[in-house]
Amino acid sequence: MNARATDAEAIARVKSLIGDDGFTQAFADVEDASGLPNAAYWSDEWLALEQERVFRRSWVFAGAEAEIPEPGDMKPIEIGGAPLIIMRGMDGKVHAVHNVCRHRGARLVTEPCRKSSITCPYHAWNYALDGKLRARPHFSGPDSVDRFENGGGDKLDLVPVRVETWNGCIFANVSGDADPLEVWLAPFLNRTRAYDYSAIRWAGRIDFEVRANWKLVYENYMEGYHVFSVHPKLLKFAPMNVRWSGEWDAHVFYNDYVFPEIEEGRGGGLPHYPGLPEKDAQRGLWFLCFPHFAAEVFPDQFTLLVSYPVAPDLTREELHVFLIGDAATSDEHRGPREAVLQMWDDLNREDLGMLELLQQGRLSPAYDGGRLSPHWEGPTHQFGRRIVEKIIAA
Ligand code: FES
Ligand SMILES: [Fe+2]
Repeated sequence: MNARATDAEAIARVKSLIGDDGFTQAFADVEDASGLPNAAYWSDEWLALEQERVFRRSWVFAGAEAEIPEPGDMKPIEIGGAPLIIMRGMDGKVHAVHNVCRHRGARLVTEPCRKSSITCPYHAWNYALDGKLRARPHFSGPDSVDRFENGGGDKLDLVPVRVETWNGCIFANVSGDADPLEVWLAPFLNRTRAYDYSAIRWAGRIDFEVRANWKLVYENYMEGYHVFSVHPKLLKFAPMNVRWSGEWDAHVFYNDYVFPEIEEGRGGGLPHYPGLPEKDAQRGLWFLCFPHFAAEVFPDQFTLLVSYPVAPDLTREELHVFLIGDAATSDEHRGPREAVLQMWDDLNREDLGMLELLQQGRLSPAYDGGRLSPHWEGPTHQFGRRIVEKIIAA
């Protein structure tokens, strides 16, 4: 374990759920270690720890800017169990607030919509698009209206959430004290300097509901070990002998391969990043910025796989595809663009069944976290360790 400050109470809570042995295993070398014990995949209390101490204290992808293109566009999202509204204000900027009325606590927004202000469905308190209280009808007696020119202050305005954007991606940090976004993204950006991300444009999103723990999505995402038996088409595109285990660089997992031939869906029929060197034209890279920003970078695209826990055994997964410039929206590129989305949809569906089997297997008292492949699964093991480290951090 490293020397970062830890929280004794959190350590005690972790040990009460996964045992002293599970705790020790998380910090062992992969040669001798198992993955996290079953409780980390089934326990409500464990998920509550992750929500509170991992998700709320990190940068979390909260959607694409293209999902809220116009002033007044908004969407509800839950991050770390906290309901939020992500919206575009009249100033054209992205704002985030807690999705709860300051009066009696009604949830304000339940689906994506466009509004010029937010009116609570219960007693109609009205808030501006930056969360400031504007009016409270009948609050001080029949037919009265309390109006607020400059908002109602800390106790009455919607509670703001720290939010930042990066090339069309929105990130929120509920606790407000994560490192600056550019510091958090740096290990990923440093490895992909050849890619001009200012050229990426949102091309669409595919949603999946997975009957498995959110961590299994990423444990599976990191290792190429299962490709030979689960992904026949992907295996043909990038066989086992071009693959390696990947590695962590600080809090960012990184992996890559060079594929023998370009095909539609990855690198074929669509414009590449401007100025991308020839040597990268047949390269695929993928990243996981801990805890849940997973990006795949191919010469023609930037694809995200983000996994939001709903319950210990239920995950909402969003796949966002960004393409280069016009290719994201133009009629001319429709065919190859749809091929990219279809490729990701097919590939992900091949994984879903496996994720559900992994979840079910973790009901077995005969499973203790398993024996991992030191060749392929070192990074997977480290993912579990990072979860524990983040939970117990002071
Ligand atoms: S709960 Fe929102 S106005 Fe009463
Ligand atoms: Fe897979």
